[in-house]
Amino acid sequence: MTRYAHITGWGMSVPAHILTNDDLAKMVDTSDEWIQSMTGIRERHIAGARESTASLAIDAAVKALSVAGVPARHIGLIVVATSLPEYLFPSTACIVQDQLGASHAAAFDLLAACSGFVYALSVASQMIISGAYESALVIGSETLSRMIDWSDRSTCVLFGDGAGAVVLQSSETPGGILSIALHADGSGGDMLIVPAGGSHLPTSLETIEDNQHSIVMNGREVYRFATRAMVSSTLEVVEKAGLSLDDIRLIIPHQANRRIIESAAKDLELPMDRFAMNLDRYGNTSAASIPIALCEAIDAGRIHTGDHIVMVAFGAGMTWGSSVIKWVAAGPRKASRFVWAQRLMARARSTARRTGRRIGGLIWGE
Ligand code: UT7
Repeated sequence: MTRYAHITGWGMSVPAHILTNDDLAKMVDTSDEWIQSMTGIRERHIAGARESTASLAIDAAVKALSVAGVPARHIGLIVVATSLPEYLFPSTACIVQDQLGASHAAAFDLLAACSGFVYALSVASQMIISGAYESALVIGSETLSRMIDWSDRSTCVLFGDGAGAVVLQSSETPGGILSIALHADGSGGDMLIVPAGGSHLPTSLETIEDNQHSIVMNGREVYRFATRAMVSSTLEVVEKAGLSLDDIRLIIPHQANRRIIESAAKDLELPMDRFAMNLDRYGNTSAASIPIALCEAIDAGRIHTGDHIVMVAFGAGMTWGSSVIKWVAAGPRKASRFVWAQRLMARARSTARRTGRRIGGLIWGE
């Protein structure tokens, strides 16, 4: 039997707090006019003190499970694509696994920066197609606002926080993830980098005083790379699926800069209405940008059964990647009311396990 990996659930979550271009103009030497004309961004959502990469991921995942009507305990695999995990370890995926009560799921994080969701979707879909798993949760979740130098106008205007999630399930029905194309060029690593906090330059008083824990970017170089990568990756993945651009109903590009997407559209000779666009309201949410744009495209009725869509991303690494999906989900199902109850149960289960471990430690410790 040939197996296919279909997207059967989707959900997104963004922090409530909105930071507008005018707000930024009060913080650094910039203007709404410059930001809109150079990037297309009007505003972005910024995580508050009680929000984090894991909390946004969990919120998006709960919604995706609810749409799919799949209980968390039936999920076999959780992959969280993120550039700023909750901790260095444990992985954010393990926190999501615990909080959802996905007690049978393997869980790991994946770092491919803004290409992370496409990379994670590719890995999870191949796990399903190979027969290793029946279902997976793939999440892109980011709180890059916490890695931004808020005095650097060349980067602080670009990024926002958020999360998007999809449920993947195996099926014998042809469709789902049809082709993938992933690439990397590590020689471009210094084009977009957070210099300190890792093994190379561990956190120290100096790294903090020198502000080396924030995003450093060569915008011009990234821009040049991105316009080429978006075009070559789209053409490659469409050809791999045995299709032509005429067969593609919608392209969901990484939402980094409107001009990058317009340049790709021009080179691909496609009108802009074939591209999902929402960066004006969210900015660049890195690995979360594609699943958030997917959710909004579905809600707007832009994706129908039988449509072929392309997801295409680029990011630090440098990495880039794309995927062709034949959409087979019948549309939003009746959301399961039990998902929230399951989440409460998961919390109770997690607390019971921690308490049990503590009591066991006291008994056996003696
Ligand atoms: O997911 C991947 C993430 N990264 C990207 O996708 C970034 C790709 N790159 C870009 O989107 C563009 O490079 C930017 C929008 C970031 C910048 O556009 P640019 O045309 O490459 O501008 P630039 O960096 O060469 O700067 C042009 C001018 C400079 O002033 P001078 O030296 O010409 O006087 C900058 O200082 O614009 C100035 N500038 C700003 N001015 C007002 C840079 N940022 C700002 C700002 N407001 N926020």
